[in-house]
Amino acid sequence: MTETQSGKSLRVDIWRGGEDGWLDSFNVPRQPSQTILDIVTYVQRKLDATLSYRFSCRVGMCGSCAMTVNGKPRWTCRTHVDSVEEDGKIEIRPLRNFPIVKDLAVDMTVFFDKWRDAGARFAPRDGASLEFANVDPQSPARKEATAAIECIGCGVCYAACDVVAWKPDYLGPAALNRVWTLVNDERDADPDAHLRPVAGDAGCHACHSQQGCSTHCPKNLSPTAAIAGLKRRTLAALLKGRL
Ligand code: SF4
Ligand code: SF4
Ligand code: FES
Repeated sequence: MTETQSGKSLRVDIWRGGEDGWLDSFNVPRQPSQTILDIVTYVQRKLDATLSYRFSCRVGMCGSCAMTVNGKPRWTCRTHVDSVEEDGKIEIRPLRNFPIVKDLAVDMTVFFDKWRDAGARFAPRDGASLEFANVDPQSPARKEATAAIECIGCGVCYAACDVVAWKPDYLGPAALNRVWTLVNDERDADPDAHLRPVAGDAGCHACHSQQGCSTHCPKNLSPTAAIAGLKRRTLAALLKGRL
């Protein structure tokens, strides 16, 4: 960025400290095509070097830059200021539903622990085989998996989910979305092994299907649809005595 946008500036309020922190105000020069991550980086490099935040790729691949921007969870490296500013103001807070480490950096341990607890790990059917599986890209199962596969683990859906806020042990949209890809993976050894961890109280049936996760997912995935699939599949397996 080299050129300022007609000398305009933006009032930016940024969360500081931990859970009992406060909002700090900064004036940041407007730039063409400026992103929220550009703003945070400007503040940290030019105005307050103690500001903590997390990012890596800057191009929407790593999932590490998500924050709450004017009340909504977003990936900040692909969110342009023009699309979210309100009367020349931006408020940036850490993601909801995650413990704050400091300022805008949150602890994602519980988020990824839930992927583990959900059994969201591929276990190959033929563990010894080194051959590539020949999967028909047009098969219904492969289409279901493909629709859910591009998750970048950003946590935006988890922050948007009211059930996570009310019920902290709920596995959450991202982990359940991942399980749905495995249940539909014909290379996986035992689809029922993926259904068991998500069939209980903290699993797919706790979802109220109101689509907060799908509305905010920056990759346009629909964890709601994946969870609906898990609801159908767990029920069918239960009725057949497999769970
Ligand atoms: S499902 Fe979407 S919002 Fe949730 S972690 Fe994956 S990419 Fe992010
Ligand atoms: S649809 Fe389900 S997983 Fe998605 S935000 Fe709502 S309760 Fe959470
Ligand atoms: S910095 Fe990697 S997704 Fe934003």
